[in-house]
Amino acid sequence: MDRYDLSLIGFGGVNRALAELIVQRGDDLAVELGFTLRVVAITDLRAGSLVDIDGIDLVPLLSTEPGALSFAGLAGGSADPRNEWVIRHVPADIVVEATYTNPTDGEPALSHVRWALESGKHVCTTNKGPVALAGRALKALAVDHGVSFEFEGSVLSGTPVLRTAQRLLGGLTITGVQGIMNGTSNYILGRLEDGVDLPRAIAEAQALGYAESDPTADIEGHDVQLKVIILANEVLGARLRREDVPCEGISAITPQEVRDAASKGLHWKLVGSATRQEDGSVEARVAPVAVPAHHPLAGISGPLNAVSLHTDLLGTITVSGPGAGRIETAYALLSDIIAIHQRGAADTTTPARFVRQEPNCV
Ligand code: HSE
Repeated sequence: MDRYDLSLIGFGGVNRALAELIVQRGDDLAVELGFTLRVVAITDLRAGSLVDIDGIDLVPLLSTEPGALSFAGLAGGSADPRNEWVIRHVPADIVVEATYTNPTDGEPALSHVRWALESGKHVCTTNKGPVALAGRALKALAVDHGVSFEFEGSVLSGTPVLRTAQRLLGGLTITGVQGIMNGTSNYILGRLEDGVDLPRAIAEAQALGYAESDPTADIEGHDVQLKVIILANEVLGARLRREDVPCEGISAITPQEVRDAASKGLHWKLVGSATRQEDGSVEARVAPVAVPAHHPLAGISGPLNAVSLHTDLLGTITVSGPGAGRIETAYALLSDIIAIHQRGAADTTTPARFVRQEPNCV
């Protein structure tokens, strides 16, 4: 039976949920998947760091309220997160990066991922910043060091849109992607239709674990912008940066407009899209759209997300499922670990079609 030792970077909702999965389902997963998981280090901005190379007992940590958790004073614990030291020097097989997303420069998550790959450790992350802003360089770094860089949860949490596009659709050409990719804004738009006011709708989305720590990124479309960049670059082989993707969020839409539209059978949705142009370049955008009830995206409500992949041989394939939530996003990390296990260290490369240089791409 294989065993993977994990360093968890960030111990907020998502990595805590992964720890819960390991505690609650570890034995079943071992039987089903043929490997066990052990956490040997945890770092967190507020709680500090905890290291035990024989395996951390997760149960007492999970029974402590997140706000009250402190590693200072525990054996192997410190009030200092010591991220770089833990990532580089604790002998983990996989570094699981789940700190907050910084849409401007991807830090500190970008450095966390780099340190791990440079140290010869596999990385899985749900963090959109490093993938959207430096995905190509990080994948090259992973190849150089013979390890895997997995990030399924960066788009649509545990719903496998990236792996579907990259692993299951070989032999056809994907010409564009379009979808609802932010659970918070979709939930809020639905609640406004229900007559709930904006502050309460935002508070509900935060309480349910959908929203970013700063919900501005959800509401202003920046979260979707990063996801569109990831999809365009990973699935369409583009090289988009943030400045290439015009972005408009939902903050200019009033609750009254949402209700008026609903009374006419129209539903406001925040839609992200990327489309290959005739000259081979890829154009992408994020903007709210009022779609009629018969539109395929009209029925995607609450934290449900959907991405349609437009293809030459199969027409449109739509992947729909949860786009946010602690457990749903933790499942993405588990699916990344499964991918690392299944691939083994020998084959860490992305299929060539997803790393080719497209003419005229920005
Ligand atoms: N805040 C994001 C959302 C979480 O609401 O979809 C996943 O990126």
